[in-house]
Amino acid sequence: MSTILLAGGAGYIGSHTAVELLESGYDVIIADNYSNSCPEVINRVEEITGKSVKAYEVDIKDKEKVDALFSENKIDAVIHFAGLKAVGESVAMPVAYYRNNIDTTLTLLECMEKHGVKNIIFSSSATVYGEENPVPYTEEMKRGTCTNPYGWTKVMMEQILEDAAKADKDLSVVLLRYFNPIGAHVSGKIGEDPQGIPNNLMPYVAQVAVGRREKLTIFGRDYDTPDGTCRRDYIHVTDLAKGHVKAIDYVFGAKGVEIFNLGTGTPYSVTEIVETFENVNNIKINHVYGERRPGDLAESYANADKALKVLGWKTEKTLADMCRDTWNWQKNNPNGYRK
Ligand code: NAD
Ligand code: UD1
Repeated sequence: MSTILLAGGAGYIGSHTAVELLESGYDVIIADNYSNSCPEVINRVEEITGKSVKAYEVDIKDKEKVDALFSENKIDAVIHFAGLKAVGESVAMPVAYYRNNIDTTLTLLECMEKHGVKNIIFSSSATVYGEENPVPYTEEMKRGTCTNPYGWTKVMMEQILEDAAKADKDLSVVLLRYFNPIGAHVSGKIGEDPQGIPNNLMPYVAQVAVGRREKLTIFGRDYDTPDGTCRRDYIHVTDLAKGHVKAIDYVFGAKGVEIFNLGTGTPYSVTEIVETFENVNNIKINHVYGERRPGDLAESYANADKALKVLGWKTEKTLADMCRDTWNWQKNNPNGYRK
């Protein structure tokens, strides 16, 4: 059975992917420095799956330690989730973002080369389509202009991985461009656990629901969209995680670089998210309308045809599922993984 190294695997998307890989029969190793997660995640993944997970507390920038990890284990493929991802913070601390996100990628590629590991899946983002491309986004569009350093790190890492694959014809690279992952595992045992004030919509809504925040501010209602609020392609994190299992199955038989959008193809507005959350969970979300947030695009959503055609993957969960599962996680874990 193949062994998959999940770099940054204790995080939100990594932990859900670990569950789906384990349930599909893969062995999983998680390597994380817990800069934006905590070791309790490993216990929860084991509880859900009834399987054991080998976990290393390691900074993926630390080449000696990552090299030792590759020496100790026979790794068949790497999924690279390890990155800093807060857009506003990346504007304030660009150097830290470039250092962490680029350096982790280089270290993984160097260790893979040394140990003959030829398969890597990378967590990219719809943000690489930038400002120029029209929606819905398709994979062959050129990468666009990003509005923040976080986005640029994703553009640069895609380029680095493409160049590495050009130079090594045996390398198989899959770039997964995520849209807006929300929701939580149906068990309510793992979910999104942002530190401090959430930047993203759904964790903020969930924290208003549980009483940790007073009210949601909806950023702008004068966009050129049906109800004036921005529209995004929200995807259930379990659907996203299943997309990784399909991508792993694919990466083993492939060479070169393949890019896949992982989204539903259907956009929802901020107002629709708030209303669906309220209706499904029978709970009021205090909210006000405020100014636009700098850097926001009116609309972002995928054309998800390629993932269906090539990987045989499509999303199965509804927006109602996403809202219900988010609330189930939040109400059972009001302070996230902390007691
Ligand atoms: P997350 O912060 O929950 O997970 C990232 C994990 O990486 C965390 O556990 C963190 O501790 C770890 N990490 C960061 N730097 C590290 C380092 N140097 N060494 C070891 N571990 C390190 O984020 P997530 O939402 O699970 O996102 C996973 C990946 O997907 C990230 O690369 C992110 O940029 C990308 N992505 C996320 C979204 C989203 O909306 N959540 C959208 C598009 C792309
Ligand atoms: C953001 C990032 C994107 C990143 C993704 C995951 C920007 C410009 N984009 O996407 O690069 O990959 O997060 O980390 O930051 N909203 C509110 N009130 C809030 C929070 C959000 O109205 O308190 C609105 C936003 O204006 C947006 C929508 O909700 O229209 C979704 O926001 P968010 O969850 O932050 O995701 P994105 O902006 O799509």
